[in-house]
Amino acid sequence: MVRNGQSEVDKGGKRMGKQPVSRRQFLNYTLTGVGGFMAAGMLMPMVRFAVDPVLKGEAAGDFHPTQQKVSELTDVPVRVDFSYEQTDAWYTSEVTNTAWVYKNNKDEIVALSPVCKHLGCTVSWEGSGHKEKFFCPCHNGLYEKNGKNVPNTPPLKPLDVYPTAEKDGLLQLGKPQANNIV
Ligand code: FES
Repeated sequence: MVRNGQSEVDKGGKRMGKQPVSRRQFLNYTLTGVGGFMAAGMLMPMVRFAVDPVLKGEAAGDFHPTQQKVSELTDVPVRVDFSYEQTDAWYTSEVTNTAWVYKNNKDEIVALSPVCKHLGCTVSWEGSGHKEKFFCPCHNGLYEKNGKNVPNTPPLKPLDVYPTAEKDGLLQLGKPQANNIV
């Protein structure tokens, strides 16, 4: 048979279309296949890890439930602890967070992050006798009730705020954001 002007019969008289795969070709194919498979196996987790924040899509709209009844909130900040599962790539862990939560004079819920904006210590309401202030014991940082940092104390930014939601009478908290209420 003649195809593309060439015979399928080689010089040795064997039919090329039926030629068996040589040992060298077999090893090349096998090593290429196995190598590709292993490379994909190593690269996929890296790619997954790199795009994980996008895939995870934890936006400000994702809320975590708490056990705090909204009806029991007053104008005095209370500490609300809550836990949730967080998945980073293939690693899942239990995260525990805290918020200081109260209702302002418009009856709106305010939930502040306790993480000091100086070096990340934890603030507490009226700690060490500081009336109507959040106090950070690490370097005597002070914040107003709405999270605004008190001038001439170490923190240079207000405390972050949690977006809030309510479900079945219980408070839900989102991801802390820059304070927009001071
Ligand atoms: Fe809070 Fe320094 S870490 S004042």
